[in-house]
Amino acid sequence: MLKQQTKVHSSLRTVEWKNNTVVMIDQTKLPNKLVYVKYSDYKDVANAIRTLVVRGAPAIGVSGAFGLALASLQSKAKSKENLLQDLEKAKKILYETRPTAINLAWGLDRIMKVAKSGNTVSDIKASVVEEAKKMAEEDIETNIRMGKHGSQLFNDNDTIMTHCNAGALATVAYGTALGVIRATKDSGKKIKVIATETRPVMQGSRLTAFELKHDGIDVSLIPDTAVGYAMSQGLVSKVIVGADRILRTGHVYNKIGTYQVATMAKQHNIPFYVAAPLSTFDLKSNPKDVIIEQRKASEVTGIAGKKTAPDDINVINPAFDMTPPELIAGIITEAGIAKPPFETSIKKLFESKL
Ligand code: MRU
Repeated sequence: MLKQQTKVHSSLRTVEWKNNTVVMIDQTKLPNKLVYVKYSDYKDVANAIRTLVVRGAPAIGVSGAFGLALASLQSKAKSKENLLQDLEKAKKILYETRPTAINLAWGLDRIMKVAKSGNTVSDIKASVVEEAKKMAEEDIETNIRMGKHGSQLFNDNDTIMTHCNAGALATVAYGTALGVIRATKDSGKKIKVIATETRPVMQGSRLTAFELKHDGIDVSLIPDTAVGYAMSQGLVSKVIVGADRILRTGHVYNKIGTYQVATMAKQHNIPFYVAAPLSTFDLKSNPKDVIIEQRKASEVTGIAGKKTAPDDINVINPAFDMTPPELIAGIITEAGIAKPPFETSIKKLFESKL
């Protein structure tokens, strides 16, 4: 039986299963409108992931799982074998939406495992839906645990810089990096946040600034180009970001620009932390295996539909970059905090979960 929905005070619920539909905040409309969209077709969920209606590694992991749950309900198969074939087809469509965040593959594989272990068509449909709902609840509990661990690293009166959005809006609720910030505040420490805009899609200004204001957390917005200035002026005590994929060596893949922030933090002796659940770790791949998503040129050649670059300009628009382990002071997970050397400490975290 699924537990009651985990209560998270004063935070947004990004994606949810309601009456056999998937309900999500349409993040493309933020910060101007807080609107929810509802899907009963897995192809619409795939499209929502592709077009950033829902984004953020843990949120797309759970959305992928919900998408497969919808696919199982949509299937007209009369045998287990045919149902699994329908699910494999849906899995491929959902998987191909975004290549870098490992949580998507993790969520889809976890549902397929449950589907394969079922006996009858109706058993499989019921257990797949239950598993996806369980994953959503676990995501919140994981973030709360991560927040508790991470809050020990932050002090009263710290000003914490963050990049992109690793908040409630990047997860089911509460957030990874912003979950640590919420937990630090809830532990009674006074903190301030500096959020970078995060060009070109503006997850920092549209989403992080919106959700921290929504929860009454002191936040100032800076252009990405002011990171060096803010650090050199002593305005930043620590940095915390999320991650889309972390390798066993501690190489962290996160929103484009993270590497610049981490490099600048090193230059100014400012600790740079990463917060991510164990589902974001990819213990098999090497850096050369990771595909960096390249997004459309129009994200760079215009702002809010207005052209800001000449016609036919060549554009390079990678959505993620890699921060090497030597720039990272610690990786916060639900199982504890990994410190350098990461190859050893990450291994230990996974062993402690066995
Ligand atoms: O392209 P997005 O918005 O899906 O980018 C992913 C992210 O949200 C970030 O990189 C984030 O910092 C890590 S996900 C908690």
